[in-house]
Amino acid sequence: MPMNIYKEDDGLKFGTWSDEVSKFMYFDSTKEILNRVRLPEDIADFGGANGLLKHFIPNIVTIDKDESKNPDITADILSYTKYYELVILRYVLHYLNDYEVIQLFKTINAKNILIIQFENNDLIAKYKNSVNEFKYFRTTKQLQALLPLDIKTIYSKEYIVNKEFYINRLGQEEYMPHNEVLKGYYL
Ligand SMILES: C[S@@+](CC[C@H](N)C(=O)[O-])C[C@H]1O[C@@H](n2cnc3c(N)ncnc32)[C@H](O)[C@@H]1O
Repeated sequence: MPMNIYKEDDGLKFGTWSDEVSKFMYFDSTKEILNRVRLPEDIADFGGANGLLKHFIPNIVTIDKDESKNPDITADILSYTKYYELVILRYVLHYLNDYEVIQLFKTINAKNILIIQFENNDLIAKYKNSVNEFKYFRTTKQLQALLPLDIKTIYSKEYIVNKEFYINRLGQEEYMPHNEVLKGYYL
């Protein structure tokens, strides 16, 4: 399987940046969302990177194709079919094109799925700020068109993505202000 290293993700430092937006995205909102679902014993973190979710769920198994983040299992989630009671996908869907997102929901073998994902209704600003990386940002409508039909929205919060976030994440100083919506979806 071809392995990927996403240099812009900062390997083991991924998501630990000290700005307010990172704290909201990687800690505060996740805490609130996890309080709204049942957490079984057997949980996988698909695209789990450096295992930040272990802070909340110590027994979670991380599966990622980027070896530089030291996941528990190095694999491609598009063809990973082991059964879990719950699969969590936090900030992963924008790494996948539409065909891959559809493929992913066919492949996941789980009783429940929790998606934590931001949506960009101002795509022009999002792409302008996101230099040095190639991602598939989506509006609420675009994302929902790719999700399983019976999935429920369990969390929604709008926030401003500030300049500091982009400096920390991408070393990017040319900033265009924009809002983002953070969603929790549960099936
Ligand atoms: C933004 S990171 C999110 C990390 C983690 N879920 C979190 O919230 O802390 C997205 C991760 O998805 C991984 N990823 C993207 N496509 C993948 C694939 N096809 N198979 C496995 N991992 C993938 C990337 O390597 C990256 O580490």
